[in-house]
Amino acid sequence: MLLKSKKLFDDAKKVIPSGVNSPVRYFEPYPFFVKKSNGRYIWDADDRKLIDFCNGYGALLLGHRRKEIISSVSKQLKVGTLYCAPTENETELSKLIVKNYPSIDKVRLVNTGGEATMTAIRLARGYTKKNKIIKFEGCYHGAHDSVLVKAGSGSAHNGISVSEGGLKDVSKKTLVAQYNNFEDIENIIKKNNDIAGVIIEPILANMGLILPEKNFLKHVRKLTKQNNIPLIFDEVVTGFRISTGGAQKYFGIKPDITTMAKALSNGFGIAAVGGKKQIMDQLSPGGKVYQASTFAGNPIAVSAALASIKTLNKLENKLYSKLEKYCARFSKAVDDLATDFHIPHQINFTSSMMQIFFSDKPVTNYETSVNADAKKFKKLFSTLLKNKVFIAPSQFEVVFLSDAHTSTDLNKTLDAYRIALKAVKN
Ligand SMILES: Cc1ncc(COP(=O)(O)O)c(C=O)c1O
Repeated sequence: MLLKSKKLFDDAKKVIPSGVNSPVRYFEPYPFFVKKSNGRYIWDADDRKLIDFCNGYGALLLGHRRKEIISSVSKQLKVGTLYCAPTENETELSKLIVKNYPSIDKVRLVNTGGEATMTAIRLARGYTKKNKIIKFEGCYHGAHDSVLVKAGSGSAHNGISVSEGGLKDVSKKTLVAQYNNFEDIENIIKKNNDIAGVIIEPILANMGLILPEKNFLKHVRKLTKQNNIPLIFDEVVTGFRISTGGAQKYFGIKPDITTMAKALSNGFGIAAVGGKKQIMDQLSPGGKVYQASTFAGNPIAVSAALASIKTLNKLENKLYSKLEKYCARFSKAVDDLATDFHIPHQINFTSSMMQIFFSDKPVTNYETSVNADAKKFKKLFSTLLKNKVFIAPSQFEVVFLSDAHTSTDLNKTLDAYRIALKAVKN
């Protein structure tokens, strides 16, 4: 038993609902509490040193406390933490985002991924003067009413398809299409002429990992263009993680609006919504689509994002090709282990992300992910954790590699997977 974490959790429950500040952080019997982190490690309250593959749910592409970022933030701390008046750094950061994302002419900085998608959807509605949006089953775009419909991540994990307290009048305007099923979205668009936008995770990273099938995104892009419907790529996970130009660069597709967050700043609270000039200029005060936030563009998070993008741009080829190689090798090794144990399974991986599903069918959408064996995944997770490897505690999340992982770490992690898969088998 982790005595200190248990005690801290019991204490937290008295003042924090369920003891955690975001649902996926809870797992049975109680989550470990964190003392500190560095590089690829997290130390818990009971002094265990864990290899981290949760990595801030994808944010920490460069690892914990990356020196370039800590140095930039430390400098900023000396000259101020919040001004609520514009800074040159905000313009520099926006220029860097525009340079890396050819689909983006203008950017507004916000604080969270959910705030970015909320703004993107409001922009699409304001621009088109239409009401409904189309999202895909299992895609998670944050915890607001328009998108918390058949969503992945913690809402799928906790079996919440539409949240209580959410306005049905809002979620009714959200139409849900099956991921990787082009005919489904085609039919929905044929039957509805009030579509303000289509929002999609170009790589679905909230039902485990689900890759878009060949040409699916291209078809969606063509269809939305033909019907004058803004296409929103939610790159909150994939932005700066799949490449410096996100998944859109990787697949060669230009959406009309893009949201990004996590790897944008490598661990600070900042997100961005960007897109074509004519859409972005709808934002207030110049336009009539209202969006505002006290902490938007705050100097600390902006300084982290600047350092993060500069580092990524400097390392570009070396970093992404290394991670791709590591991830492919690691995924293949986990695949071989599960095969050796005769456990029915699927491995999905790309770039620096992977996940295993305990299923004998390929996992290509919400349904096939939900039908994978969650109990086996739970066993995998808890045994990995006992062996000092921390992956996200749900099969609907993803194993994220970072630049801080070494091949020695991956070998140690494979040893832990061997033990964990044996436990799954038994
Ligand atoms: C694809 C995607 N969009 C949006 C969000 C919401 O971001 P946040 O948790 O920062 O609000 C997430 C969170 O995991 C996400 O994965």
